[in-house]
Amino acid sequence: MGDKRQADPNIVHHIATGYMGTCVVLAALELNVFDEIAKKPLDTQELSEILNLNAKPLERLMVALASLGLLERAEGKYACSLETDRYLVKSSPSYFGDYYRFQVRQCLMPDFLRLDELIRENRAIMSDDWSEFMADPEKAKVFILGQHSASLGGGRMLTTKFDFSPYRRMVDLAGGSGACSIAACRSNPELTSVIVDFPNVLKVAEEIVANEGLSDRITTRAGDLTKDDWPAGDLMLISLVVSGFARDDQLAIFGKCFSKLPSGGAIIVHDFLMNRDYTGPTLSGLYNLTSAQGVPTSGEDMAGLLREVGFVNPVIETVIPEYTAMVAARKP
Ligand SMILES: C[S@@+](CC[C@H](N)C(=O)[O-])C[C@H]1O[C@@H](n2cnc3c(N)ncnc32)[C@H](O)[C@@H]1O
Repeated sequence: MGDKRQADPNIVHHIATGYMGTCVVLAALELNVFDEIAKKPLDTQELSEILNLNAKPLERLMVALASLGLLERAEGKYACSLETDRYLVKSSPSYFGDYYRFQVRQCLMPDFLRLDELIRENRAIMSDDWSEFMADPEKAKVFILGQHSASLGGGRMLTTKFDFSPYRRMVDLAGGSGACSIAACRSNPELTSVIVDFPNVLKVAEEIVANEGLSDRITTRAGDLTKDDWPAGDLMLISLVVSGFARDDQLAIFGKCFSKLPSGGAIIVHDFLMNRDYTGPTLSGLYNLTSAQGVPTSGEDMAGLLREVGFVNPVIETVIPEYTAMVAARKP
């Protein structure tokens, strides 16, 4: 609007060919390219022998990865970029490649490819109803394993943005794999948490929590937030889900959280929240497409809903830059 710049076709082209980058990353993850390159820089011939692949198509993939900046190329050998080394190599503690392998590839991409159809039919990505999606144990497992890979880092970021130390009993509503509970309990030795989610999700969460050695502090409770009850606590967390709920359900859930907290207790809503004028962040704008029933929501809107049920002093803060934000508020 009123823009005096020359139109740049590359702006459109980079956005509209973004799917190629997704597919290149997925292929490299499946073929273990990053894991092998992380051990030592290799040329394509050496890598092709290790991976038992034909060198010619592999070289095309390597050049694409270098063009994307995910690999560095020097004297014919490839090495991982800083980000690849940190986030896409399985042995890294910050690895989140399984999010792309499981959730993006198997749950999100098939539906994103027919987004126009879903919009015409007034339907949501994956399912209009989470309980229906999670009723299939295999789908629940794939989704939650992927979510865990992404949410461990998000959970860690959350612990740097909110002071969990005054709280003893957190309720991790729609807690999925328990990634946020794990991050919060690890950095706050006196905190315990109960994850509330659907039964097939909790089966996966219980295994993950046991592997972390936290089963004595992180427990589970099966329930549908829109229908069932959940335990009391002094901190209610709801991460990456409630902005996708219908307004009546959001208010009912926040109202129930309020009633389950003591005076001085707190709620954290961590979500894909838009900025005040709904122009970004880009990833929040894109992820709001995965909402089942909700409308795009800004941090200010979310704070308003919390105030409506009685919470006070809402604080809005970015959690993962350019991606997620939280609103934390207190019960007076
Ligand atoms: C995107 S995942 C987020 C999981 C977790 N909170 C995190 O931040 O990693 C959304 C989760 O919400 C759960 N969920 C969705 N609707 C729910 C409902 N009505 N009751 C309980 N859990 C629900 C899903 O089963 C899933 O585990």
